[in-house]
Parts: sequence; structure tokens; C-alpha cells
Amino acid sequence: MTPHIEAAAGDYAEDILLPGDPSRAEWIAETFLSDVRVVNRVRGAIGLTGTFQGRPVSVQATGMGMPSAAIYLNELLMEYGVKRMIRVGTCGGLNADYRVRDIVLAQAASTNSNQNGSLFAPYQYASIADFGLLSTAAGLAEKAGLRTVVGGIVTDDNFYDPMGGAPYEVLKQHGTVAVEMETAAVYTIAARYGAKALTIATISDCLITHEQLSPEARQESLFEMVQLALDTFAA
Ligand code: HPA
Repeated sequence: MTPHIEAAAGDYAEDILLPGDPSRAEWIAETFLSDVRVVNRVRGAIGLTGTFQGRPVSVQATGMGMPSAAIYLNELLMEYGVKRMIRVGTCGGLNADYRVRDIVLAQAASTNSNQNGSLFAPYQYASIADFGLLSTAAGLAEKAGLRTVVGGIVTDDNFYDPMGGAPYEVLKQHGTVAVEMETAAVYTIAARYGAKALTIATISDCLITHEQLSPEARQESLFEMVQLALDTFAA
């Protein structure tokens, strides 16, 4: 047991999917896993463990943003022996060349979070995906004919920017593909504990064209993304 997880030792698999949304965690387990059991319900941040193609896999909701995600990541890695993590989520596209429903494989995550800023000062830590998970996912996505983008993203602390439009221009100029709110924590904390991590995120809205995924397309793309993540673990 940890402050935010009531599961017993051994309740989580070494491989874990990390959606932000608890209802998505339940949907993933119901849709893709067999022999599912709930291992955590603290604060509604549901955790479930089951099997995929006979191998144990868990799903844990992380909530939104780096502070929430970091709590679950630290506890999963310190106390529950998690070894490989794939965040499955959505992101906002920063480049009109990429369309909604494209799947981003986040090679690296820049961030404006003080969680990393204060930890690494005077350095700016480069939080990167595990190369093995990334190259496996990229190969499987290509084979499956999925529209995929491999590139850098930004993990932002703000969803709403009171200054009227986050300053993404310079990030865009430097090749940043999309924005979301958790990956820099996933990659940094995985590195701290010697675990492997990758983020797979569908572009749900484009900040340049303002195109948005319809609810049906959102569900279909979620299916593709979770399938890709589970196939990556199984490969
Ligand atoms: N900002 C941050 N996170 C997101 C966005 C966004 O525009 N879209 C999907 N996740």
C-alpha cells in the first residue's frame, strides 16, 4: 500500500498502460484484457490488472498533469515493480501538416514544468522515450498502416493559458509536434528508476487549424492506439 494506491505487492504487472482518464482505464481493461481484477480505487484513480495474449498487463489512471501523474508513477515504480510503461492519451497538434487522429510517438518531451525545472537547474533535462519501445511501436504502426508521427512534444502545465495562446511558436520552429500534459514526468521518472517508457498519443485537436476529432473517431483512434501499445508490449 502507498498513500495513493491500495493494491497489495504483486497486484500490478511489470507492463502498464497509463491513460489519464479513469473511465478510459476501465474501458481499456474491459475491451482488451482477460481475467481483469480491480487493484486500486483510491480517489477514483482506478487501477486494473489482467492479461493480454496470456501475459499480465495493468492499466492505471494517472489523472491530468505532471503533479498527478508523478504521484502514481513514483508509487508504481518504487513499490510495485513496474518495469515498462506506455502512456496512452490525446494531444493537441501544433503543426497543420499533421491531422487529427494521427498517432504521435513521443520521442522526447520538452516541458515548462517547474517539477523538472527546479530539479535539474541549471540544466534543462532532455526527457526521452525508451528507444526499444519507440522503435518497436514505430515498426508495428507502419506495418498496420497507421498514420504515425515520431517526434518531440511539449508537456505543458497549462491547458488554459490566461495570456491568450501559449507561446508555442518557438517550439514549433524547433520541430515540436504536439502538446499534452504528462509525458515529461513519465519519461523523467521512468529514467530515475531504470524503467522503460513511451507515450503514444492521438492528435485530438489541432491548435493551428482548430480541427477536432468527432466522438466516434476519438473512440476508434483510442482503439488503434491501445492495440498498438499492447502489441508493443507483446512484441
Ligand atoms: N493542450 C494540452 N493537452 C492536450 C491538448 C491541448 O491542447 N489537447 C489534448 N491534450
